[in-house]
Amino acid sequence: MQDIIEKTVVFVQDRLKNAEAGHDWWHIQRVWNNTKLILETEQADRLVCELTALLHDIADSKFHDGDESIGPRIAGEFLEGVGVEPATVEHVQKIILNMSFKASLGEVHFHSKELEVVQDADRLDAIGAIGIARAFNYGGFKNREIYNPDIPVETNLSKEMYKNTQAPTINHFYEKLLLLRDKMNTDTGKKIAADRHRFMEVFLQQFYGEWNGER
Ligand code: ADP
Ligand code: NI
Repeated sequence: MQDIIEKTVVFVQDRLKNAEAGHDWWHIQRVWNNTKLILETEQADRLVCELTALLHDIADSKFHDGDESIGPRIAGEFLEGVGVEPATVEHVQKIILNMSFKASLGEVHFHSKELEVVQDADRLDAIGAIGIARAFNYGGFKNREIYNPDIPVETNLSKEMYKNTQAPTINHFYEKLLLLRDKMNTDTGKKIAADRHRFMEVFLQQFYGEWNGER
């Protein structure tokens, strides 16, 4: 098993050499670490979870005209090539296909404990201190304002409007980051998410305080 994991690490690091910062190798390493942390207290197939954590972002559909089948296909070809048994390969592919935030909005076709673990691990990387850093990094990349008090954070802008109006990064907390805690699957994931969620609330309070010139 260790041999397969090591080969997968090398494969993923190579594939993500030029990846954007939100989904680079370090994101994968953090999700992998989160997966191992969750597995300390959750029962699931270890090989499936670790392989999925490593392979879940090798082809972001946003950069492939929304084609969500490319990631699972490349992952499958790689895993077959290093001799992983077909049932494991298929399981990893199904999880990758179904794991995105979009899938959780209603199009879930597949479910397993292993999916729960890795999805939690991925979501944990979108909240807390890392989540804050990733959000502002993304907002900076899109040249968005960090905050605009004239655009209320409760404003429920549709995805399309978001693209057009260049919603400030603080709005993204209310649109997504603060909702993730209640989407966690496993008890372990829920506990870790609760701590990271609280950290974001503290951050926001401090942010508004400083914005308004309080000391
Ligand atoms: P995922 O990997 O969960 O599919 P995305 O590709 O949507 O997430 O986003 C990658 C990172 O960029 C995440 O940390 C996410 O919170 C952040 N992000 C996505 N959209 C925005 C946005 N409109 N403003 C700020 N950050 C964003
Ligand atoms: Ni991810």
